[in-house]
Amino acid sequence: MNDPKQFVAQAIDKLRAAVPGPAVVAASGGIDSTAAAVLAERALGDRAHAIFVDTGLLRAGEVERVDRLFRQSGLAYRRVEASEQFLNALRGVRDPERKRRRIGAEFVHVFDAQARELGTDRLVQGTIAPDWIESGGALRDTIKTHHNVGGIPKGSRLVLVEPLRDLYKDEVRAVARELGIPEAERQPFPGPGLAVRVEGAVDRERLRRARVANAVVEEEIDRAVAARELERPWQYFAVLLEAKTVGVTGDNRVHGDAVSVRVVDSVDAMTATAVPVPAAVLARIAQRITRELPGEVVRVLYDVTDKPPATIEWE
Ligand code: XMP
Repeated sequence: MNDPKQFVAQAIDKLRAAVPGPAVVAASGGIDSTAAAVLAERALGDRAHAIFVDTGLLRAGEVERVDRLFRQSGLAYRRVEASEQFLNALRGVRDPERKRRRIGAEFVHVFDAQARELGTDRLVQGTIAPDWIESGGALRDTIKTHHNVGGIPKGSRLVLVEPLRDLYKDEVRAVARELGIPEAERQPFPGPGLAVRVEGAVDRERLRRARVANAVVEEEIDRAVAARELERPWQYFAVLLEAKTVGVTGDNRVHGDAVSVRVVDSVDAMTATAVPVPAAVLARIAQRITRELPGEVVRVLYDVTDKPPATIEWE
């Protein structure tokens, strides 16, 4: 992509050609799908129906944040509450790839139902190049099946329309700025949400711990950025590990959870480097996580691995 303005004009033409009637638009509040949704609204007007799915796998405050973002972007949307459905689909599933596939399938069920209601088969989604490249689309081994590229399963009539398919993240950000989407610099958040930040099996309790730990990392890094202790990193989050570890609270020995903190810099998510976060910031993060999850999380680790060999997310 050379010029974002030109890209937007061409994407609108292509969307009009690809969508004859109404379309369901998958809108997670992430930068990719928000850019795709605003393009769809510009191309199709009232025929674009943006759907935000509350999967129960969202970060703290996400529903409110997304509502604000969509309002500021002038995007009308419908919120579908589906957390029970997603948690049921994930029950007992430990393998990261199976988790992603189950989540992908649940999204398709939700969008299928919406499409039937609207009498359409078109689904606009914000798939970008690294999603399908890392999912094995370019003659490489599958690194991760991104939740939005599992393909449309048999039994669904949905036809995918993907206006951002050839763009990388930095290009999507340029397009988002061109479209007037606020917070275009917001950090990426994976479509499968906290499900891939809870190592192994996912349940409400473990999700709650991952949610609290993620919120602490975001708040403390944001605060450190505001205080100029470090430059704003590309992505920063916490992962609840499967390992159990011994700790002490008061006079008691507890067998609790461990959390790994990950802060990386990247340009396009294809490679990344671990950020040397100042020790004082890491210490505050560790204190707050263990204080806000007393007896539950008793150890906080910092991940110093680059991508490659690690990926950005643990799963
Ligand atoms: P990895 O972990 O593969 O992540 O190095 C690269 C970037 O992609 C995000 N990510 C995902 N995004 N669906 C998404 O929409 C997914 O299944 C998924 N897995 C990882 C990750 O947060 C990072 O920004």
